[in-house]
Amino acid sequence: MTQHITTARATTAQPSTAAQPSTKDSTENQAAGRHADKVALVMGGARGIGAGIVRLLAAEGARVTFTYASATSEAEELEKTIAASGGTAVGVKANSSDRSQVREVIAELAALQGRIDIVIANAGGGTKKLVAELSDEEIDRMIDVNIRGTLDTIRFSTPHMRRGGRVIVIGSVSATHFPDDITSIYGMTKGAVASLVRGMSRELGPRGITINNVQPGPVDTPANPADGPFGDMLRETIPVGRFGKVTEIASLVSHIASEDGGYINGASLDIDGGYSA
Ligand SMILES: NC(=O)c1ccc[n+]([C@@H]2O[C@H](COP(=O)([O-])OP(=O)(O)OC[C@H]3O[C@@H](n4cnc5c(N)ncnc54)[C@H](OP(=O)(O)O)[C@@H]3O)[C@@H](O)[C@H]2O)c1
Repeated sequence: MTQHITTARATTAQPSTAAQPSTKDSTENQAAGRHADKVALVMGGARGIGAGIVRLLAAEGARVTFTYASATSEAEELEKTIAASGGTAVGVKANSSDRSQVREVIAELAALQGRIDIVIANAGGGTKKLVAELSDEEIDRMIDVNIRGTLDTIRFSTPHMRRGGRVIVIGSVSATHFPDDITSIYGMTKGAVASLVRGMSRELGPRGITINNVQPGPVDTPANPADGPFGDMLRETIPVGRFGKVTEIASLVSHIASEDGGYINGASLDIDGGYSA
């Protein structure tokens, strides 16, 4: 069951600025920001890359709603941090693998704000195993979240977007780069969304909406920690000799989402320190 955006933090003792996404006041001190007054939705934004994007878009003036599957305490912490610095971000528990929850959170945001300007389809992940060793459930989860959740996010949100709208999918260099034998299905799902983005640029471009696919290489997040089990193995294969930072991914996303990014459309952009070169 999806939470409602307006009551997403009903359990917190004191409603913060972040619990009032429809007010303009909280963005006034961000007026110089390049996303001032933009309505942004980040699917999968409580932690990792998504949280980095939420932080930057909010710092640059957007009114951000983000979803998460289970990380309630991280979502609350993120809301508080952003509210304390004068930004606006509201977390809503909604699982991207559940079509009705994706539909509901988007419809509610559109009804509340009247439109959606920026959509980031970031929710995703994968299980690293040989295809022969993956369970039915592990395969279905990757397909459900990475492909269907991304598709649903795009098709339910774009009817609420107007000229200047931006759709950004967080794919992966794993779409085309296979340095090991344990990322085939994950890579397949990221290849599928790269194709979706390319195709839909023809559909959305004439409406003044761009759609792009950011493909990170290894980035230091809770899902793929630089000091985790794959850390040393991956670092050896990255020409710059380190994992990416979530702030580096967020910075690229913010540029694509800005007015200056308007000629980037239908692209899959690698940001990987040369990992896939
Ligand atoms: N980190 C990397 O090296 C890397 C590289 C290439 C691409 N990517 C892609 O970047 C995206 C983010 O990865 P990350 O490393 O930042 O992952 P992460 O640390 O696990 O964070 C993922 C965020 O998305 C949320 N999420 C996951 N599944 C969800 C679902 N079914 N419904 C709603 N929210 C969901 C999580 O919420 P909960 O915590 O509540 O589950 C969390 O807030 C993914 O699409 C991933 O494939 C990551």
